[in-house]
Amino acid sequence: MKRILIIESSPRGAESASRQLTETLQERLRFLYPNASFVERDLATDPLPHLDYQTAKGISTKDKAEAESLKDALRLSDELSEELLSSDLLVIASPMWNFGLPSSLKAWIDHIVRAGKTFNYAGAGVEG
Ligand SMILES: Cc1cc2nc3c(=O)[nH]c(=O)nc-3n(C[C@H](O)[C@H](O)[C@H](O)COP(=O)(O)O)c2cc1C
Repeated sequence: MKRILIIESSPRGAESASRQLTETLQERLRFLYPNASFVERDLATDPLPHLDYQTAKGISTKDKAEAESLKDALRLSDELSEELLSSDLLVIASPMWNFGLPSSLKAWIDHIVRAGKTFNYAGAGVEG
């Protein structure tokens, strides 16, 4: 185990139950994988923008020329998906908000879900 990516999403600081769980889990992971490095992405203190027109287009286009012209709009999505792909283990800490996840975490998911990169459409369905 080389690299562990931790995604935090609760804005509740020291009162957050999910953050307390991550701390406990991190101690355990440190014990199990003493040589692993931890990378933390805190979506509460460092929120991501929601996908805008250009980014959504860049993510979904199948046209090579158009994709090339939208490269700049995909810079953040590229950075986040590469951060994910370079990790061996992913830990997501999330509160339940209104029977779902916080929009800060959904924004991260929208940036990292990239067809042909973080998942593929395969014969039987979706892989990745
Ligand atoms: C805006 C908001 C919405 C919530 N919605 C739900 C919910 O739908 N279901 C639930 O079981 N708990 C809900 N809760 C309670 C949280 O899941 C609970 O406080 C949890 O500990 C939050 O995680 P955190 O402590 O890491 O912030 C909600 C809390 C907040 C602040």
